[in-house]
Amino acid sequence: MGLKESMPHKLKTVIIGGSSGMGLCLAQKLYALGHEIVIASRSKDKLGKAVKTIGKAESYVLDVTKEKEVIQFFQAVGPFDHLVTSASDFVMGSFLNMPLDQAKGFFDSKFWGQYTAAKYGAPHLRTGGSITFFCGMAGQKPFIHFSAGSAINAALEGLTRALALELSPLRVNAISPGTIVTPVWNVMSEKERLREFEETAQKLPVKRVGQPEDIAQAAIYLIQCGFATGSVVYVDGGGRIA
Ligand SMILES: NC(=O)c1ccc[n+]([C@@H]2O[C@H](COP(=O)([O-])OP(=O)(O)OC[C@H]3O[C@@H](n4cnc5c(N)ncnc54)[C@H](OP(=O)(O)O)[C@@H]3O)[C@@H](O)[C@H]2O)c1
Repeated sequence: MGLKESMPHKLKTVIIGGSSGMGLCLAQKLYALGHEIVIASRSKDKLGKAVKTIGKAESYVLDVTKEKEVIQFFQAVGPFDHLVTSASDFVMGSFLNMPLDQAKGFFDSKFWGQYTAAKYGAPHLRTGGSITFFCGMAGQKPFIHFSAGSAINAALEGLTRALALELSPLRVNAISPGTIVTPVWNVMSEKERLREFEETAQKLPVKRVGQPEDIAQAAIYLIQCGFATGSVVYVDGGGRIA
């Protein structure tokens, strides 16, 4: 065996949605652990800032709802070790009043986006590889005006278990976050946001809302633990049981 063959390769991790929030935090942590990082999202500007925050990363402009773009993206990236999909829009609204197209658009983004990424990413994953999806607490504990979100998150839990069987020996897991302080909440004014975080924190057993670091820790566990597959890790400060 030559020297090159005997040396372990540097792990390469692709994070679709890695330009913001939990995906960006995970990218920083994995880079510090020695991973080669690839991030992708729609905004070139966000990607540029994220690369500076991470230190070093390949970045690709990608809309995960566009099948052709996803295929071309994975062809450009080539073989890699771990796929994480944190990309999604966030859509809330009354079940009776929200236009159907808006609910379907949310599915296109969060459910079909991750499905498409797994479908076209899996063939490029090296032996020992893994996929980590992002679902959310509402899949287990619904709240009002988030029916599409509840359905999407529950569907993603099902997809996780199904793909853990079908794509074996690749490992497939999901993280289900509770309320985490990320830019996704910037749709609210600062005052509303802080009130929401404060009220949520009081109801949670841990008495605080989550930070992206809490989720990055869980994602690193799922990436590193070779015995974890078909699992959904709930990182919600106890929100499901409160
Ligand atoms: N934060 C929470 O409290 C919370 C709670 C439960 C579940 N979650 C879930 O956790 C995941 C990560 O959330 P986050 O809070 O970290 O969100 P975030 O800060 O808004 O980050 C989302 C990322 O996804 C990218 N993205 C959105 N749509 C995309 C598309 N069609 N194609 C490619 N990239 C796209 C965004 O960048 P571009 O704009 O550049 O595309 C951004 O980088 C999401 O699935 C979210 O639903 C979040």
